[in-house]
Amino acid sequence: MPFEVQRADWRMHGATLSAIRRDVFVVEQHVPESEEWDEWDAVSRHVIALADGAGVGTGRLLPDGRIGRMAVLKAWRGRGVGGALLSALIHMAREDGHGETRLHAQTHARDFYARHGYEPVGGEFMEAGIPHIEMRLSLGGCASRTPSPRTKP
Ligand SMILES: CC(C)(COP(=O)(O)OP(=O)(O)OC[C@H]1O[C@@H](n2cnc3c(N)ncnc32)[C@H](O)[C@@H]1OP(=O)(O)O)[C@@H](O)C(=O)NCCC(=O)NCCS
Repeated sequence: MPFEVQRADWRMHGATLSAIRRDVFVVEQHVPESEEWDEWDAVSRHVIALADGAGVGTGRLLPDGRIGRMAVLKAWRGRGVGGALLSALIHMAREDGHGETRLHAQTHARDFYARHGYEPVGGEFMEAGIPHIEMRLSLGGCASRTPSPRTKP
């Protein structure tokens, strides 16, 4: 089934985005609700992946250029949804004029981010009970390193 990535507004689509994140982070990865929800959602830019009108993935861009809360429903992984969400967020970071974008990657997802040009910064640390590494992507004059958002299933 095909999917598409769109920008999402937290006030209008917050319930749908929250449902995806609850499934992935709270239920699947056992992140405490108290750590999942924060004040950044209201001021971040969000993206959603839709398949047949239903939300299957999401991610957000904070005002300081950090990308986070990347989540794709289990049944939809490995089909390019995460890559398309990340490409859209990187594009939005460029639009906002950021010279670089950073994120805290769950260590298992390091290669996923690396294929989008992210490089590790420093060592591993724990966040929400899960091992993470910080990664950064320079946005200065390297637009060609970011693949275009994909729309194939
Ligand atoms: C990480 C995540 C967002 C990736 O989404 P996705 O839709 O599976 O990503 P894509 O299909 O675009 O790309 C997957 C590719 O990255 C690679 N990859 C490397 N590590 C990976 C990982 N931990 N999870 C998924 N893919 C990973 C896969 O091998 C795959 O390569 P392939 O296309 O050659 O098979 C998704 O797996 C997810 O929601 N995971 C649970 C939540 C999570 O860990 N979020 C990240 C927080 S930092």
